[in-house]
Amino acid sequence: MNILILGSGGREHTLAWKMAQSPLLKHLFVAPGNAGTEVIAKNVPIGVNDFEKIRELVLQEKIDMVVVGPEDPLVNGVHDFFLNDTELKHVAIIGPEKAAATLEGSKEFAKEFMMRHDIPTAAYRSFNKDTLEEGYDFLDTLNPPYVLKADGLAAGKGVLILSDIQEAKSELNAMLIDSKFGDASATVVIEEFLDGIELSVFVLTDGTNYKILPTAKDYKRIGEGDTGLNTGGMGAISPVPFADAAFMHKIHENVVKPTVNGLRADALPYKGFIFIGLIKVGEEPKVIEYNVRLGDPETEVVIPRIKNDLVELFKAVSSSSLDRIDLEIDERTASTVMLVSGGYPEAYEKGKEMHGLEETTDSLIFHAGTKLENGKVVTNGGRVMAITSFGDNFQEALATSYKNAAKIDFEGINYRKDLGFDLN
Ligand code: AMP
Ligand code: GLY
Repeated sequence: MNILILGSGGREHTLAWKMAQSPLLKHLFVAPGNAGTEVIAKNVPIGVNDFEKIRELVLQEKIDMVVVGPEDPLVNGVHDFFLNDTELKHVAIIGPEKAAATLEGSKEFAKEFMMRHDIPTAAYRSFNKDTLEEGYDFLDTLNPPYVLKADGLAAGKGVLILSDIQEAKSELNAMLIDSKFGDASATVVIEEFLDGIELSVFVLTDGTNYKILPTAKDYKRIGEGDTGLNTGGMGAISPVPFADAAFMHKIHENVVKPTVNGLRADALPYKGFIFIGLIKVGEEPKVIEYNVRLGDPETEVVIPRIKNDLVELFKAVSSSSLDRIDLEIDERTASTVMLVSGGYPEAYEKGKEMHGLEETTDSLIFHAGTKLENGKVVTNGGRVMAITSFGDNFQEALATSYKNAAKIDFEGINYRKDLGFDLN
């Protein structure tokens, strides 16, 4: 098969690395890709939302399957674009159609879906500019901290958690009236604060059948001890040690089953990954968000633990026969440590040359913001690369990742040295 992956992060390098191991694969393309994917696939300089150029590439290279990494093209309807084109409709797309991608594209839609299907989540109400005063009144009925969420996609920045009621009201005003997050905050979901520890569960579904993939926990804050600004993710661990069999059973019965059945009941076609963000409140899982794709850097620990041929799994998704496959998971723990550019998640410089990559041992190096320049790997983004390692437990896995992180250098390099601090 000829396969195209859309995206350019550590997630896409990991998918490319895994699919490159499949005997079913003939040619692999990544658009636009990074320095890591360039070694194992053909990078094509096309943006993930440039559907016309993607169309040309798919026809020219006789691509049989497109695996969509990020949410943007899904929310923009890339799957529907293929289905509506007579020359493209036979191509397998891994990623949901636009209607189902709204689970990530609109927080209000996701909350309504959860309510309709009895999926445990935080109590909420949503507001727009005409109901601002009601929003203030609703805030007055809640206890701090206050959780305000821009309804639409806001590059991971649209959720505010505030301890002061006046600040919460002025932020609500900024979101609804001053368009703080543009159109994304024309509607704001205000919800109950859930106190507990977070984890993510990944599901691969063909729309009817599904496989629950390994759990993972990521570390979103830039600073040690989970302080400072939010990032795309500074590292991850899989499996999550506190997700024992009893808790996983609850996740399966109370969250995963009603989610997949709900998609079917609502006629929302879904072939792809569902990323369920959860908080463990007491012993109960509660959903804080759905994403319609894999997480990054969660992918860098989840995918390496899957022993199956990923292309075979994707083929089964496409032909609605996932029930015929048994998932095989590596029992070991995987950890990943994200190396980032100095200054990230605020302003940072690009184009810094990397040193020491060839000295690393015993880890998988997944590139994110990198590119090749005159044969040299240079930085090209905030999150630069993820170092994934295995171990009998997360401490062992992390020790190997940190051993290798210390060997790599570029100007301004930064990474969190305390991953797993909350799991001991
Ligand atoms: P989201 O984009 O909905 O995942 O929210 C981003 C982050 O905000 C989550 O990863 C949580 O850390 C936090 N968060 C979201 N909703 C809640 C909530 N209801 N209670 C506590 N924390 C939350
Ligand atoms: N690591 C969080 C995300 O991919 O959304």
